[in-house]
Amino acid sequence: PVAPGPAPAEPGSLDALRESARDCRGCSLWQPATQTVFGEGPTDARTMIVGEQPGDEEDLSGRPFVGPAGRLFSRALDELGIDRRGLYLTNAVKHFRFEPRGKRRLHKRPDVAHIEACNGWLRAEIAQVKPERIVCLGASAARAVFGPGVRLSEARGAWRTRDDGVRAFATVHPAWVLRQGDLQAQALAYAGFVEDLRLLLAT
Ligand code: URA
Repeated sequence: PVAPGPAPAEPGSLDALRESARDCRGCSLWQPATQTVFGEGPTDARTMIVGEQPGDEEDLSGRPFVGPAGRLFSRALDELGIDRRGLYLTNAVKHFRFEPRGKRRLHKRPDVAHIEACNGWLRAEIAQVKPERIVCLGASAARAVFGPGVRLSEARGAWRTRDDGVRAFATVHPAWVLRQGDLQAQALAYAGFVEDLRLLLAT
């Protein structure tokens, strides 16, 4: 007797999307990357978090926000008393873009073309999860969520309503906080980041 395989994913479901995204060749980033890092979290999450792209640890593990930036984000959520497990976490671009430097892989920002090529996946995630609100972490996420012409400085720390009625705001990317030169600058950047995320507590 043959053991039954896993139940096939329901067409159009998040699981089905995740499966299709595994073989995405929509841009060239799939080739050097280890795997697609799709979003994860409850299908009925009220809040969706959109980051830039997976980093080194995410690329290796296949899960979003598990590296240093993800840990800083978790710390900010803990401080605000927000349960990360209730959030749907995803990225504007679902493959890690990097530059090899010896044994290391240095993060490289995605181009607008990568964000555009990947936008169908994000739109599909939004259509499936139907979040009430979206938080964009950094400029790439703001571009993916609001489209061209919205600057991070304008979208930062204030709700805007998208054409589909979903409210969203942007804040800085936690990796940017970590890149601040000295500890004082980092503490200041982190405080601003937490302050922006506090918007999630208001409604
Ligand atoms: N990890 C992610 O999954 N996304 C980011 O934008 C940063 C770290």
